[in-house]
Amino acid sequence: MVRRDLLTKTQGLSSKTQYPIPKTQNLRPKTQNLRPKTQNLRPKTQNLRPKTLLVTGGAGFIGSNFIHYILNEHPDWTVINLDKLTYAGNLANLADIESQYGLLNPSKDLVAKTQDLRPRYFFVRGSIADRELVDALFSGEYFAANSLNPNTQDLRPSIVVNFAAESHVDRSILDASPFIETNIKGTQVLLEAARTHWLGSKTQDPTSNTQDLRPNIFLQVSTDEVYGATEKGKFTEESPLSPNSPYSASKAAADFLCHAYWKTYQLPVIITRCSNNLGPFQFPEKLIPLAITNALENKPIPIYGDGLNVRDWIYVLDHCRALDFTLQKGKPGEIYNIAANEERTNLELIHRLLDVMDNPQSLIKFVADRPGHDRRYALDITKITRELGWKPLYSFEKALAATVDWYLNHESWWRQIKSGDYAKYYDRMYSHR
Ligand code: NAD
Ligand code: DAU
Repeated sequence: MVRRDLLTKTQGLSSKTQYPIPKTQNLRPKTQNLRPKTQNLRPKTQNLRPKTLLVTGGAGFIGSNFIHYILNEHPDWTVINLDKLTYAGNLANLADIESQYGLLNPSKDLVAKTQDLRPRYFFVRGSIADRELVDALFSGEYFAANSLNPNTQDLRPSIVVNFAAESHVDRSILDASPFIETNIKGTQVLLEAARTHWLGSKTQDPTSNTQDLRPNIFLQVSTDEVYGATEKGKFTEESPLSPNSPYSASKAAADFLCHAYWKTYQLPVIITRCSNNLGPFQFPEKLIPLAITNALENKPIPIYGDGLNVRDWIYVLDHCRALDFTLQKGKPGEIYNIAANEERTNLELIHRLLDVMDNPQSLIKFVADRPGHDRRYALDITKITRELGWKPLYSFEKALAATVDWYLNHESWWRQIKSGDYAKYYDRMYSHR
């Protein structure tokens, strides 16, 4: 039984929906008090020209939320989603986007509203480590060669938002190789393509990147894990990097490459480092969706070690808004921490989750710890709040309720995942733990 009184109301989605067609209301703050009321809660858009964004890893958890957010918020922006579709990539996350904004089927509503038949969403299956493909996307040749662009739109990206990554710490402990290939080599391939196509033989004057011109931005979506763990205090953007897992080491390496491309070539790179996200479309290998879906199946919830490791949780839409603020107001060469200051031990989190779902606490099962398990992450977010005017809109309680609600109403989405290769992964990870 689920305590529906603790959940947010679901709008327009039934649990019968075969694919998770996210009506935007579901992904956005639902009540007036959660929506940005004043101009300083949303970034200003008037100083930006129409943009083509190359969003990498857009079929994953945060990337797909970001694409929903951006296409709804910026009617004159176009998104090219480059995704390899690894186990974590899922086109079902974007089924509604494909039908509303995609090449084959721009919706009548949209056409009526914008008088514009041009698609605003393009999907390309491929790896960010594929130099030739990435080059063809930057030059525009990819779309010309594939006759996928009947309107001959200029689809050369002026902004890159790099989400593509191997993202799960536990998998990086089993095998680090794909993390090196995607997170490090892939980022370098993107940086090099951006340098070649955006800067040519020139370097850019770093002081000339004014608010209203904003010619190009390479936004690297990084993580708080690059700072390592701390028992006390919070990491600022100046804190040294001290990653502990193969995953965080690969993300830190990518951050260093980004920094090097800024310093050496003045490629306009911005790095964001965010804390743990929760929300719709998260793959159920991560703690919260794993716990929700196990609880719904009445299965044990594995807690590593003593359960006292601390994570700082942020709703995925708040992260997406922060990235939008960063694209519009962030300064090239800068780093911005993103978090909601909602620290919980894993045990506190799962106790609360089981309470919200009205499941027994006896589902908790302590299992062997993660090797090298970081004790606590915590970020100081003074810089992004003061300099860009962003702040989170979701409390932990609201974020948790909205997330539980989403998984409850998208059973076919997670059951489809859990019935495939995931079962083998789960068995390998947990059966002898
Ligand atoms: P995810 O695992 O859900 O999605 C990753 C996506 O990248 C998938 O769609 C996958 O198919 C794609 N991908 C993987 N390798 C690729 C390649 N070589 N080329 C193109 N696409 C590829 O990850 P997520 O949780 O959405 O995280 C997205 C980004 O945000 C990552 O860079 C991660 O480090 C960062 N981040 C995540 C969190 C979090 O809490 N999840 C917090 C901070 C930062
Ligand atoms: O901090 C940002 C990072 O958050 C991102 O960079 C990563 O991509 C993302 O995966 C996440 O990393 P974590 O390792 O913190 O997330 P995860 O959900 O795997 O684990 C959260 C905490 O819960 C962590 O302390 C380990 C613990 N845990 C996790 C799982 C999967 C358990 O106790 N049991 C579990 O079964």
